[in-house]
Amino acid sequence: MQASSGASAASRTSAVVFEDVHKYFGTFQALDGINLTVRRGERIVVFGPSGSGKSTLIRCVNGLEGFQRGRIMVGEIPVDHGLGTVPLIRRKVGMVFQQFNLFPHLSIVENCTVGLVMTRGMSEQQARERAIEFLVRVRVSDQAHKYPSELSGGQQQRVAIARALCLQPEVLLFDEPTSALDPEMVKEVLDVMEELAESGITMICVTHEMGFARAVADRMVFMDRGRILLDAVPDVIFNNPRTGRLKEFFSHVSGSA
Ligand SMILES: Nc1ncnc2c1ncn2[C@@H]1O[C@H](COP(=O)(O)OP(=O)(O)OP(=O)(O)O)[C@@H](O)[C@H]1O
Ligand SMILES: [Mg+2]
Repeated sequence: MQASSGASAASRTSAVVFEDVHKYFGTFQALDGINLTVRRGERIVVFGPSGSGKSTLIRCVNGLEGFQRGRIMVGEIPVDHGLGTVPLIRRKVGMVFQQFNLFPHLSIVENCTVGLVMTRGMSEQQARERAIEFLVRVRVSDQAHKYPSELSGGQQQRVAIARALCLQPEVLLFDEPTSALDPEMVKEVLDVMEELAESGITMICVTHEMGFARAVADRMVFMDRGRILLDAVPDVIFNNPRTGRLKEFFSHVSGSA
């Protein structure tokens, strides 16, 4: 893009920007003045106590939740239900949920092709080729003909990641992708996420997997009661004197010491 095109330098290097975002559920304030800039290619881990607003924060990015005040930009596009930008935003932003959210009545490969055919106008054949490519990447291509209920949780979550990747998002949101898994399946999903992290895609991950955060995160964002209390590189989070709410939080999270 030319420097004279009018786009600010910040919007060219930023994948997602929150500016003073406030979000209410009725009278309850779930997000209280969020400011956060995620640069392109950055890997951000969001963590904090239950109810602190982590899911709400990332759900606002792809318009699954609205907000009442402030601004969120995905690249150069504002997330704005009123302006009708949400479908455009969802082309750029993929999401992986705690409960996988695969379509139970579709096979694994169909779970991956349906979005490509329905929303991207791809032919069945092309969509299938792309789906298989990504199912290979997350190492579940041997399950392509099965249905979600026939797969383990770890396999289902890897399919959910492949499904998101098929749509070639610029930003991938993860909401506690391993917390519904049996312990022996956590690693297979984290391994896939670590590989993804090396691919250069922008990632915002809500997770309490501190080993993953140490290995992968460029920055860690600690939330409490709808606010960002700390936004720092993992070294600072793990090695600084742990005062106040972070110290209290870490005392409840294993693997963080
Ligand atoms: N649809 C809703 N209606 C009313 N209140 C909600 C709704 N969704 C979330 N909340 C409230 O907003 C606050 C933040 O919720 P959120 O789900 O973002 O927290 P979280 O940090 O993701 O928690 P957890 O770690 O348990 O997933 C909580 O107090 C929650 O009860
Ligand atoms: Mg949550």
